[in-house]
Amino acid sequence: MSYQNRQWFYVKRPEGRVGDEHYELRESEIDASLSSNEVLIRARIVSVDPYIRIQQHERNTYDVPHPLGIVQRAGVVGEVVASASPLFKQGDWVSAYSGWQLYARCHHSELTRLNPDEAPVSTALGVLGMPGRTAWFGLMEAGKPRPGDTLVVSGAAGAVGSLVAQFGKRAGCKVIGIAGGAQKCAFLTDTLKLDGAVDYRAHPTLEGLQSALQAATGGVDVYFDNVGGMITDAVIPLIKRRARIVICGAIAQYDGGLDTPDLAPRFLQHMLFQRATIQGILARDFTHRMDEMLQTVAPWVKNGEIVYQETYVDGFDALPNALNSLFEGKNLGKLLVRV
Ligand SMILES: NC(=O)c1ccc[n+]([C@@H]2O[C@H](COP(=O)([O-])OP(=O)(O)OC[C@H]3O[C@@H](n4cnc5c(N)ncnc54)[C@H](OP(=O)(O)O)[C@@H]3O)[C@@H](O)[C@H]2O)c1
Repeated sequence: MSYQNRQWFYVKRPEGRVGDEHYELRESEIDASLSSNEVLIRARIVSVDPYIRIQQHERNTYDVPHPLGIVQRAGVVGEVVASASPLFKQGDWVSAYSGWQLYARCHHSELTRLNPDEAPVSTALGVLGMPGRTAWFGLMEAGKPRPGDTLVVSGAAGAVGSLVAQFGKRAGCKVIGIAGGAQKCAFLTDTLKLDGAVDYRAHPTLEGLQSALQAATGGVDVYFDNVGGMITDAVIPLIKRRARIVICGAIAQYDGGLDTPDLAPRFLQHMLFQRATIQGILARDFTHRMDEMLQTVAPWVKNGEIVYQETYVDGFDALPNALNSLFEGKNLGKLLVRV
């Protein structure tokens, strides 16, 4: 028995935006005669994440560059179509890191079983997956939120940011989100019940953005940064005594600006004045503590106490464009591709 596979190969390093020339769609037969403990999965939901664009960088970042000429790596939720493993049977839902391909043969140790009765399977790529882990440990371990703190979150309407904002509210913080556009800001205040939202697109200058943030926050105890660039330049001078700055992402710089970012106002004197700390965090450093996060957050998801928004794009062919759309802010919450 064999299946018709479709795979997106990553073939050329982009310098700016990702385009058609950086990926190749290939079709081939995949053989379903499995070795012992192998499982054949059919992807149903594929993740697109900003880190994919970091890993396309030609130099080492927090990892070696994604090799050219192989299937684009990514998190996937799929169904078991054939199994030679005692642990999985046909029809089981699993998550895997099998990349942008419809079918993949995986060793059973590479799969995580999902229970659709406990939570929608898509959550394994969002609130109950890597973005959830990033938000939870990034905020709790590095941000150290305390009741009464003012927490500012950039990229606040996205997968990680929308969770950080809600975890901050649960920790008793006053939470101000920064996002692009009136619709996203309305989502932050009306749906997530944040204390305020600042639309950075409505404030194109550093001074304008900083005054809007000053008015909304009155000073910042914790800054959870998903974006970098001018937004971060605007926030840093507003930090209060012993502020904690969590560097989670710098999406404003991934499209070619990681090595040659615009020269910003230099703000480290504010770290000195306020005896503040700044800490980078990576989701992978908390993988071994995933169960700890799930024990706390999964019941909130089950009881509807956490809003997890998902934006879907349809079709396997749409994957490279979907990656681009993260940089255009087309998603609310986690961006997923249904295949
Ligand atoms: N440290 C880690 O381990 C880790 C793990 C996961 C994610 N991250 C980082 O966290 C950040 C968010 O990731 P995510 O998966 O949750 O993505 P996301 O926030 O769901 O999607 C990306 C969002 O970034 C915003 N954006 C894009 N370009 C921008 C720019 N030039 N200036 C300002 N905002 C921009 C857009 O929102 P607007 O419409 O509001 O502009 C877009 O919707 C990324 O920087 C990512 O690399 C880090």
